[in-house]
Amino acid sequence: MRRVVLTIGAAIGFLAVNIGMTACGADIPPAPKASTYAPAADLVKAVDDYIAGIADILESQEDFKDLQAKVIKDAETIAVLALVLGLHDENTPYKAAAPALIKAARELSAAAAKDYASAKKALGALEAAKSSVGDPNGLKWEKVASLKELMEQVPLVNSRLKRNMRRFERQAEVIAVDSAVIAAIAQGSMANLDETNKPENAEQWFQFCAAMRDAAAQINKAAKAKDAAGAEKAVTALAKTCDDCHAVFHPEALGKTE
Ligand code: HEC
Repeated sequence: MRRVVLTIGAAIGFLAVNIGMTACGADIPPAPKASTYAPAADLVKAVDDYIAGIADILESQEDFKDLQAKVIKDAETIAVLALVLGLHDENTPYKAAAPALIKAARELSAAAAKDYASAKKALGALEAAKSSVGDPNGLKWEKVASLKELMEQVPLVNSRLKRNMRRFERQAEVIAVDSAVIAAIAQGSMANLDETNKPENAEQWFQFCAAMRDAAAQINKAAKAKDAAGAEKAVTALAKTCDDCHAVFHPEALGKTE
């Protein structure tokens, strides 16, 4: 009898611990200061570049037709970069503009999925949002972009970064911006756990996102220090984080990261 009671007691205790762990597990772990992985100046440059790139595409309806998917991807990326700038420990004009930037970038993504005229109008609103002054204090780590769009952006940025590694000295600044973008996407993707095929593996998801963020941060630091060997090492470390995560969360992408 005593043994049964103990067993039931242990079972209840086990359940309680497990439920408790699951509840905590789904909470995004506290993020390090953004300046340690994605310097604000790099993210500001990236936001400006993405907006300018979209403006370029939207100059002509033909280009828009050909590059509609890119406009959507870039708009989603801007939303995440703006969130990191809004939560950043370094102050830039885009910190106060972040709430409006996120909203306008999301609207641009939806508009670009519709038609050219809607996309043009939404781009105007996004450009206006750059100089808006809002309150970033209401921002928190939450989903502002689609995982699929972000994960299609990552290999594009990563390939460009690797190409630029061949001209490291000359391209160090561009490499710094691209690595900051990858780090910001990695941190932002923590909020996309529910879109993965294994939402129950929260701890692993957060760990892989953090590993990707931290490897990209090392590239950024090496680029700023003009340390080519250090950057090479960090690029290799970053590639490993891609594979580690895909092995669990997206085996289809294994070997497709080159
Ligand atoms: C934290 C986990 C994680 C990390 C780290 C990660 N990925 Fe992914 N990746 C995913 C998931 C999940 C998908 C599937 C997304 C979807 O389609 O919903 C994916 C999809 C992809 C795809 C396929 C996109 C397509 O067209 O379907 C490529 C390519 C890719 N990732 C490249 C990379 C590269 C390169 C890196 C490293 C620089 C990387 N990923 C890092 C989780 C990760």
